[in-house]
Amino acid sequence: MDREKIIVIDFGGQYNQLVARRVRECHVYCEIYSYKTDLEQIRAMNPKGIILTGGPNSCYEEGVPSCREELFELGVPVLGLCYGAQLMMHVLGGRVCKAPVREYGRVEMMVDTSTRLFHDVTPLTVCWMSHNDYIEKMAPGFRMIAHTADCPVAAAQNTSRDLYAVQFHPEVLHTLEGSKILHNFVYDICGCAGDWRMDSFVETSIQAIRKKVGGGKVLCALSGGVDSSVAAVLLSKAVGSQLTCVFVDHGLLRKNEGDEVEEVFGPGGPYDLRFIRVNAQERFYGKLKGVEEPEHKRKIIGEEFIRVFEEEAKKIGKVDFLVQGTIYPDVVESGLGGESAVIKSHHNVGGLPDYVDFKEIIEPLRNLFKDEVRKVGLELGIPEKLVYRQPFPGPGLGIRIVGEVTAEKVKMVQDADAIYREEIAAAGLEKTPDQYFAALTNMRSVGVMGDERTYDYAVALRAVNTVDFMTAEASQIPWEVLQRVTNRIVNEVSHVNRVLYDITSKPPGTVEFE
Ligand code: XMP
Repeated sequence: MDREKIIVIDFGGQYNQLVARRVRECHVYCEIYSYKTDLEQIRAMNPKGIILTGGPNSCYEEGVPSCREELFELGVPVLGLCYGAQLMMHVLGGRVCKAPVREYGRVEMMVDTSTRLFHDVTPLTVCWMSHNDYIEKMAPGFRMIAHTADCPVAAAQNTSRDLYAVQFHPEVLHTLEGSKILHNFVYDICGCAGDWRMDSFVETSIQAIRKKVGGGKVLCALSGGVDSSVAAVLLSKAVGSQLTCVFVDHGLLRKNEGDEVEEVFGPGGPYDLRFIRVNAQERFYGKLKGVEEPEHKRKIIGEEFIRVFEEEAKKIGKVDFLVQGTIYPDVVESGLGGESAVIKSHHNVGGLPDYVDFKEIIEPLRNLFKDEVRKVGLELGIPEKLVYRQPFPGPGLGIRIVGEVTAEKVKMVQDADAIYREEIAAAGLEKTPDQYFAALTNMRSVGVMGDERTYDYAVALRAVNTVDFMTAEASQIPWEVLQRVTNRIVNEVSHVNRVLYDITSKPPGTVEFE
């Protein structure tokens, strides 16, 4: 497909995905590739521009991620960020070395606003710096176009070769005019038209799916989460009742969630598709009986999910396509896109079913970031409540009940969690934490209720703020809200007599309890 495209070359920096997201926010399509990607492959993609990301290394050391000089001779504008900027200078004959003063955090920067890169940027602006090395001497043909008190070359350009180097991170929001700078690069320097829009994505995807599927049969495992819901609706709009969605209710969903999914996707709902709900609660509880070890529980839930799905698929018989709700960060994190290590493989619920008879996989969201998936969801008319649903792990409440899972414990944690969510919503705080939920600890302790001694379970409340879920801070829920939640939980949820609030950050904690 000959869509205009910017290529982000990943040198292992922590903000690599952010760079691509910011470019896409400018309505320009963008993909991430490892620095090891062959130059010919890059040339063949015919990019409008190339961005080199930051990275943790020193570019002048042996064996560190690097690039060939020919990368700068493709006739395509290149923007180097941080490590990428230093590497550009190093490869083209400049000098990079350890800086006398390390810069970290927000820094004031003086920029030359007569340049295309800084067009319309405030002459004295604020940028986000994070570097130990600096550009001591620019490569031949470059001119300094920004500096800070401690960084003599905060940005440089060689306009005759269309090469640009910035020491700071325009992709980080603390760089006040970072989006404008990236906008200037992709529009004014690379000449992009900005054709990446979610409404046209929906239109072209529907056409492409129709063409691919023809009269074939399509099967989709629906979890009720954002990704599989958006994928299912996209398919339904494209091929209607040629699509069958199987929704496995493993009994580890939030309170009433199974019914809510059925309301939206079931026969009474607005979408044209075949919907099959499998109520497999007892089967999962049976498999989990007596199992306490977290990884073992995860495995059981993942495997059982696949088995149930396969059994349903067998009843349906041969299908032509299987839909997967894979999104772009999954692709990048599984090592297929950028440079980042495989971080979350354990989060995949259980891989692909072995025995489903299908010819091909369809991944309609494979190129989208989460915020883009949400926009597509809204374009498709999916209810906001579903589109903005907070993340929920595949193994569900199975990993929010510490120790053995039983039907009684599931009910306790569902009820406590529902109260927590109700009160957070009532306080208008739904968008404040990025994820919040109740978990059931395996601890029982003594309490007093009425005049009776109790010996019951403790519920833990968790709320976190995070950008990428790899690190997280505990969210500061107001005390009055926590008090209300606590009172309601101990009064309304049987066998819970204590509520704890978890203020551990990640690391050293994790978001989930298991
Ligand atoms: P942790 O507990 O690893 O969670 O700090 C980080 C984020 O990932 C979600 N999570 C999962 N998602 N399957 C999933 O689909 C899983 O097995 C799983 N475990 C954790 C968690 O809810 C949080 O958003």
